[in-house]
Amino acid sequence: MLYTEKVMDHFNNPRNVGVIDDADGVGEVGNPVCGDVMKITIKVENDRITDLKFQTLGCGAAIATSSIVTEMAKGMTLEEAVAITKKQVADELGGLPAAKMHCSVLATDGLKVAVDDYLKKHGRAPIAGEILSEDPNFDPHAEEEEQSVAAENCHLHE
Ligand code: FES
Repeated sequence: MLYTEKVMDHFNNPRNVGVIDDADGVGEVGNPVCGDVMKITIKVENDRITDLKFQTLGCGAAIATSSIVTEMAKGMTLEEAVAITKKQVADELGGLPAAKMHCSVLATDGLKVAVDDYLKKHGRAPIAGEILSEDPNFDPHAEEEEQSVAAENCHLHE
């Protein structure tokens, strides 16, 4: 399986790893396909994300996408952050193998849950919309070309 140089860079040197102790919002999500989990903590000022940190227990693609999403979302408004799609995350990394596209759901969902957590703590309505990994009907392999390969790779945790 071929990964781009940027994926390998973010996997080998993930940015913004850790937990913000006095976080304004916390998002924890799990991938229903493989059981991998991601936690993201955010700081918010004037409805703009000023800092993020993540911890991901998962495959290389999950770690790389988590890392890049923290870079993408830093400085964004809450609305902009929840609008980041898994395709944008993959594009930012120079692409992901089709069988690993579902892994990027963790990163975007974790960020969405953290934003809604912040809003909830301030008595405000959620804006993140659908959390794909929490949807019982979510088919993480829907966009993949080779479903059997994808299922196999989930277990391999490449
Ligand atoms: S997130 Fe579990 S295999 Fe990638």
